[in-house]
Amino acid sequence: MNRQVVLVTGGSSGIGLSTCQHLKAKGFKVYGTSRKISNGAKPYGFPMVQMEITDRKSIQNGISYVLRNEGRIDILVNNAGTGVAGAVEDASIEEIDTIFRLIVFAAIEVTNSVIPSMRENGGGRIINISSVGAEFGLPFRGIYSASKAALDRFSETLRLELSPWGISVSTIQPGDIKTNINNSRITLDKSNQVESPYYGIFQKTYRQINKEVASAKDPIIVAKIVERIIKSKSPKMRYPAASFIQRFSLTLNRILPTEVFQKILKLRYPVK
Ligand SMILES: NC(=O)c1ccc[n+]([C@@H]2O[C@H](COP(=O)([O-])OP(=O)(O)OC[C@H]3O[C@@H](n4cnc5c(N)ncnc54)[C@H](OP(=O)(O)O)[C@@H]3O)[C@@H](O)[C@H]2O)c1
Repeated sequence: MNRQVVLVTGGSSGIGLSTCQHLKAKGFKVYGTSRKISNGAKPYGFPMVQMEITDRKSIQNGISYVLRNEGRIDILVNNAGTGVAGAVEDASIEEIDTIFRLIVFAAIEVTNSVIPSMRENGGGRIINISSVGAEFGLPFRGIYSASKAALDRFSETLRLELSPWGISVSTIQPGDIKTNINNSRITLDKSNQVESPYYGIFQKTYRQINKEVASAKDPIIVAKIVERIIKSKSPKMRYPAASFIQRFSLTLNRILPTEVFQKILKLRYPVK
């Protein structure tokens, strides 16, 4: 039997790297992407594809490379991205544009480049790496939450629209996961300046965010959920990949009035 072909964007680090390594060990034909590694190089034991996901031409070249080699992509994992921190008021339109290009528009473009071959091959799985933060606004992560919420909403529609071709769409919502994200995260320029009214509390919250990631769960928990989705006959829409307390917060957010839920959030992440 032909091995299923998986393409994971952002296969060079963190969740993407762990997913590629795990799926390779499970017998899948895996390709990961990176901006910095040439097509076909195997620094992690599986072939890489050079791709800047905010550049249309680069996406097309990368997808064509895999299709030329394999003739198909059965599973696409839109993972490449990072975190964002800073106050909403401090975010410039240019910064918001950069973040939405990376987290929302890029996932749409990569997906649209892969769908025709999935349709031709009679089906596929699209798995978008979202975040627990997509479900509610967290202090100093408003732009990030907004971008991941947008990713979740278009994924829901895509799932409906692609169902006639046997292509399923799911999102995974990780909580804190121990990756390189503390080094790659975008911080908003103004929030890092003492003139910002948020400077003091933002710096304190940012230290807390970094600390929580540094002691968080291993990315293998996300990789195993990706495998579960691939092997499932009928994948669900969304899968949390988070600690008990973060999964509990998702439940609380669903059952409590937002005003009450925000009182709890402010205890954990004070805004003053
Ligand atoms: N870690 C967490 O706590 C957490 C929680 C919730 C959601 N997430 C989400 O999980 C995903 C992976 O994050 P991570 O924690 O694994 O971070 P990471 O360790 O920093 O890895 C990020 C990956 O994305 C790639 N990437 C970044 N910008 C790119 C661009 N413009 N074009 C192409 N590739 C790009 C990087 O590849 P190169 O640098 O090699 O190009 C790298 O492989 C992100 O979407 C993030 O929002 C993470």
